[in-house]
Amino acid sequence: MARNATNGLLQNAKKSKSDEFYTLLSDIESELQHYKSHFQNKVVYCNCDDPRISNFFNYFASNFKELGLKKLIASCYREQTNDLFNSGENESGFYCEYRGQEGESKKTILTDLVYFKGDGDFRGSESIELLKQSDIVVTNPPFSLFREYVAQLVKYDKKFLIIGNINAITYKKIFKLIKENKAWLGVNLGRGISGFIVPEHYELYGTEARIDRLGNRIVSPNNCLWLTNLDISKRHEDITLTKRYFGNEAMYPKYDNYEGINVNKTQDIPLDFEGVMGVPITFLHKLNPDQFEIIKFRKGNDDKDLSINGKCTYFRILIKNKRIQTKLAGNKEMSAVNKVYKTFGRQRVIEQRSSYQNSL
Ligand SMILES: C[S@@+](CC[C@H](N)C(=O)[O-])C[C@H]1O[C@@H](n2cnc3c(N)ncnc32)[C@H](O)[C@@H]1O
Repeated sequence: MARNATNGLLQNAKKSKSDEFYTLLSDIESELQHYKSHFQNKVVYCNCDDPRISNFFNYFASNFKELGLKKLIASCYREQTNDLFNSGENESGFYCEYRGQEGESKKTILTDLVYFKGDGDFRGSESIELLKQSDIVVTNPPFSLFREYVAQLVKYDKKFLIIGNINAITYKKIFKLIKENKAWLGVNLGRGISGFIVPEHYELYGTEARIDRLGNRIVSPNNCLWLTNLDISKRHEDITLTKRYFGNEAMYPKYDNYEGINVNKTQDIPLDFEGVMGVPITFLHKLNPDQFEIIKFRKGNDDKDLSINGKCTYFRILIKNKRIQTKLAGNKEMSAVNKVYKTFGRQRVIEQRSSYQNSL
């Protein structure tokens, strides 16, 4: 087989691996506990979920009354395999609806599946019809289709709470949503999502793999996030800043190709710096939009990756502290220092600072 073709197959295998990560109930409960007030009288749609096994379906059906849901819909995709190895199963996808009525148990619902004409692809017209009827979409969609998946939710103006890979932040359109405050990270991230159930054929290796007491094969990739546009109060808590830029300038080198300083860790963001700061992408996990403004991602003015003394940094998000003026109002020294920094640069700040201190 030609090398390119082999690579293509390997790529596809790699791609589809995380498409078969099934979410643990404990991880769903741990995130969903923060959003309960959003579900009152709402139709929830889990559109990448076989209701017979999905823990998303299980969670919403079990908490239907407590959340005050109006309806729960779950739909399942059946891949139409027709390649070298399969002659084509031609199975239809299916869905079920649950209204939590008296006598309507989860079990009876699951024997009452409705078959689609097509495969149940979330992009298909039948699934889109169900999407239109729903208010909030909650699921873990196939990672390889994440961009398209989110684009569809935006197109139909839906509320959502979904799992994705942390890398998704770096996708142009996803970052744009985050920058424009139209989507943001949920509460749990990385190790905060404990693992995923994987199928029998998935090879378990390394310390991040285990078999639980129910015999489920679990991997913990520690690289996932929740992406949502459901607002919660936790998102409006300030990051506590304790570090200072002035006096510790060496810790915060300036970029070659952008007027701003580099900050290696979110906890090191200085409280006294008015200009633009480049922070790691995990900063978004702590972002309070009332405290910080997102300016740009990754690139300097020359549209090349941000660099310091010719060396590119890790991906950085350029941000500005919105609160600096109010925080330091009354602190004449810091306001003056920031103004001098902006106009004349660091050397002048040092001179002004010592003359200010001498005058005290
Ligand atoms: C990452 S798994 C998660 C499954 C389930 N949502 C969960 O969290 O346990 C993604 C699921 O999407 C399904 N899927 C793949 N392509 C799809 C498509 N085009 N439309 C709908 N579902 C799809 C896969 O079969 C798989 O069950």
